Amino acid sequence: MRKIKWGVIGAGGIADRRTLPGMMLADNAELVAVMEINMELAEKLREKYNAKVAYDNYEGLLANDEIEAVYIASPVVCHKEQAIAAAKAGKHILLEKPAAMTIEDGEDILSAAKEAGVLIASGFMMRYHGYHQKVKEMIANGDIGDIVSARGQLTCWYPEIEGAWRQDKSKSGGGALMDMGVHCIDLIEYITGAKTVETCGFNSTRTFSYNVDDSSNILIRLDNGAVAYVDSHFNIPDEAAFCRLEFYGTKGSILCEGTVSQIEAGEVKAVISGADEGYNAAQNRTTDGAFKVEAELGNMYTKEIESFGNSIINGTALTVPLEDAIHVQKVAMAAYTSTETKAFVSVE
Ligand SMILES: NC(=O)c1ccc[n+]([C@@H]2O[C@H](COP(=O)([O-])OP(=O)(O)OC[C@H]3O[C@@H](n4cnc5c(N)ncnc54)[C@H](O)[C@@H]3O)[C@@H](O)[C@H]2O)c1
Repeated sequence: MRKIKWGVIGAGGIADRRTLPGMMLADNAELVAVMEINMELAEKLREKYNAKVAYDNYEGLLANDEIEAVYIASPVVCHKEQAIAAAKAGKHILLEKPAAMTIEDGEDILSAAKEAGVLIASGFMMRYHGYHQKVKEMIANGDIGDIVSARGQLTCWYPEIEGAWRQDKSKSGGGALMDMGVHCIDLIEYITGAKTVETCGFNSTRTFSYNVDDSSNILIRLDNGAVAYVDSHFNIPDEAAFCRLEFYGTKGSILCEGTVSQIEAGEVKAVISGADEGYNAAQNRTTDGAFKVEAELGNMYTKEIESFGNSIINGTALTVPLEDAIHVQKVAMAAYTSTETKAFVSVE
């Protein structure tokens, strides 16, 4: 099987925690080079993942002709410069979420990739979760009828850390919503196949002293009329959050617990009821009919790398085109605007 030759820019964070271990299991990937901001760390990672070359600057990595695709997992503030340079160097790009600091930066990245004729995908890897794929299939089948309501939740405990780029708006572009809420927005849109047209939200910093939101609670109205609630927090303990994804339709509901995560795990339950039975004045509440949904689980990061590789090798459609990530960013930015203006904000 042909293997895509990869270079990784910003290899010491999520790349080292999840994506590089996932890449090692991918059957169409070969790691050629890693880049980190200091040579000692770069060399350590090169050795750990058996790459050929280590760099302490991204320009050096991009000049390596053997590399066909780059995975960019640097802080958000670096995405624009590095992704545009990668496009100009003719490399296909898997760019971590959120796409960039601003919508305009995301659009500039996309234009550069199009101009250079390279593929560019976003790192919304939760789309590959076996349960999310299964739930998407159930909803497309009409199993729970017309979707009227949904919810996505992702939280963690993230106290002040000296020098943390995520806690500095000039390096992250935003807080809990930009960092975690975007996964939920993306999952709700991907799974329902609907796009957000309007949002309103409360975004605030109430627990910590940094200048980005540690609390984000937003509503999004989808183009099919359904409304979803997305809650993302930096101030709820990791172990206290169920990281739920919920879908309610005219014929039933699906509840995912613990699936909005970096680990392909969790549990999914569904209720499918005969709404045609007519109104029941007793309003008896029972979920006795709930059943466990089964799906084959694996490693989302391996699937992400393999899927992008397949798009390069076989021309298959991208699972997470950058256009989708830019749309999600529009939703997040509109929700921030809504907090300031105290009004509903339309999303293109
Ligand atoms: N998809 C996911 O599962 C997931 C999870 C976490 C983070 N992310 C995304 O990945 C990106 C990185 O987040 P993180 O949690 O790994 O951050 P991090 O701070 O843990 O790691 C970032 C790495 O980039 C390096 N770096 C710093 N400046 C750089 C530069 N100028 N050029 C290249 N590398 C540089 C740092 O040394 C560090 O090793 C962000 O876009 C974030 O939103 C995605």
